[in-house]
Amino acid sequence: MSANKKLLVLPGDGIGPEVMGELMRVIEWFDSKGALKFDVDTALVGGAAYDAEGAPISDATMAKALKADAVLFGAVGGPKWEPLPFAVRPERGLLRLRKELELFANLRPAKVFSALADASALKPELVDGLDIMIVRELTGGVYFGTPRGIETLPDGQKRGFNTQSYTTSEIDRVARVAFDLARKRGNKLCSVEKANVMESGELWREVVQEIHDQDYPDVNLSHMYADNCAMQLVRYPKQFDVIVTDNLFGDILSDCAAMLTGSLGMLPSASLGAPDAGGNRKAMYEPIHGSAPDIAGKGLANPLANFLSFAMMLRYSFDLPAEAAALEAAIETVLGQGIRTADIRLPDVPPVSTAEMGKAVLGELQKLIG
Ligand code: IPM
Ligand code: MG
Repeated sequence: MSANKKLLVLPGDGIGPEVMGELMRVIEWFDSKGALKFDVDTALVGGAAYDAEGAPISDATMAKALKADAVLFGAVGGPKWEPLPFAVRPERGLLRLRKELELFANLRPAKVFSALADASALKPELVDGLDIMIVRELTGGVYFGTPRGIETLPDGQKRGFNTQSYTTSEIDRVARVAFDLARKRGNKLCSVEKANVMESGELWREVVQEIHDQDYPDVNLSHMYADNCAMQLVRYPKQFDVIVTDNLFGDILSDCAAMLTGSLGMLPSASLGAPDAGGNRKAMYEPIHGSAPDIAGKGLANPLANFLSFAMMLRYSFDLPAEAAALEAAIETVLGQGIRTADIRLPDVPPVSTAEMGKAVLGELQKLIG
């Protein structure tokens, strides 16, 4: 790699700083190997940023994020900040990053590690070997649609309202990401909406079908209503390869798919923008487990989702599939040895701490690319 890649690290709240701390050791290790060189800058986000800087993300941090080659995001939120007004809640920091970096495609893999198939709430045979990729639209829909608000009606009642809206181009660009991914995987794409009750869903279905017919006729495309998809995910999840859906349905369905894998603590995500002329795209990588305030600061958090998010970064931002695969293989090995944090612990085996898990993975990495 010619120049050092610029990473902005945003640990955030709750277990965010703990899982990010372990990842920093992995990054330093890669750095010491000389193959990948990173310039790492760290800043506050979420409740931590609100406490210190008065906003869930400052303009200065936003400016750094816009200049970074990739952003690594921990988690935000916690009971301490729940009473805050909507506009300065920790989550607004995350939403501002997504919106201003234009990270419209959110990739959420739900992959079952064979060592963990027992940890799923479903029968092992339903989930063993499961590998689904949910592509969630991330900068549109009801999350950002206007008008929105809470108004007082003439009769004194209040009315809360939001707007679900999608333009052709918003649907087009996320659908293309999903079709491209499907081609690299099982060549199967399921597009999910509620075309039976929502016009935005009707347009969604139409646009996805058109793109398929014009540019991806080789990909096996199906359409499904979101409620049915939720049901199918728990009935027979292996029918899916890639799922593409809107912001809100994607939020819900990805949590559902995540639970199929047995632990939310294991799942990474990538949020990608459009490639520029040089083929580089803005990107943010984030474990999907959230801030988990109940276990924060106790050394109990599972750092693996964050490690796997870093592996996604190596793959999607820096085209380093070998390094990504090595990190993933190190994680597989450690899990296979029965080394587990509390969320995925084995009966009768004491769980390891966040730091012990980090150390175990580093040890295996060293064996693989020492
Ligand atoms: C997610 C989270 C966020 C969302 C919250 C924290 C705003 O649930 O990334 O899935 O709803 O998008
Ligand atoms: Mg969510």
